[in-house]
Amino acid sequence: MAANYNNSAWFYDRLSCLIYGRALINAQVYLLQYIPASSKILIIGGGTGWILEEITKIHPAGLNITYIEVAPAMMSISQKRQTGTNKVTFFNNAVENINLQTNFDIVITPFLFDNFKEQTLQKVFEHIHQSLKSKGLWLNADFQLTGKWWQRLLLRSMFLFFRILCGIEASSLPDIEQQFEKYSYENIAGRTFYGDFIISKIYTKMRNDSLNRYA
Ligand SMILES: C[S@@+](CC[C@H](N)C(=O)[O-])C[C@H]1O[C@@H](n2cnc3c(N)ncnc32)[C@H](O)[C@@H]1O
Repeated sequence: MAANYNNSAWFYDRLSCLIYGRALINAQVYLLQYIPASSKILIIGGGTGWILEEITKIHPAGLNITYIEVAPAMMSISQKRQTGTNKVTFFNNAVENINLQTNFDIVITPFLFDNFKEQTLQKVFEHIHQSLKSKGLWLNADFQLTGKWWQRLLLRSMFLFFRILCGIEASSLPDIEQQFEKYSYENIAGRTFYGDFIISKIYTKMRNDSLNRYA
């Protein structure tokens, strides 16, 4: 079941800035330098869509963007963003319900996977994996636990808050890194933010098969 961030759309960005300052923004902006001109891009779970304006600052034209966001209130804010002369196609649906094209140069998943239980992560990951070209780049930002007590506390509070308000299914972080390993992605760059609680990574797709030796 997809999380419903509708209830939080009007305050989501302000709340995230209150808790994390610019860390969530910086973690995503860091990834955008890896987008080549004229790319075909898939963004999933873009929230209020500020990332579209950050991408447009770098590439005001020439991109072909597919933007998927399940919460209607998030989508309606996203659709008002300035996107230059880039072509943006919006889908207000859960990504797993969309028949994705299979020729994206870039996939961006910004704080998407932390919403999911392990089983949903695996299903959604494979679905997205099929959409990326061989040698395409997957830009992912999310939380990670590196053993500090305050990370667990913050994460637990976030899960509780968003479970009550938005009905997210997760109550612990699924193993995101394991999915990239399972599908033989190569990690070519990355950086951490907010201590090392947030991690942004750039992966290259090495194989095009759907797997799966673990199935
Ligand atoms: C934690 S928020 C992050 C929003 C944004 N990326 C940001 O960092 O500000 C996750 C977003 O993913 C969306 N989402 C969750 N599950 C989804 C799914 N299955 N398909 C598409 N969007 C989804 C939610 O509605 C929400 O806007």
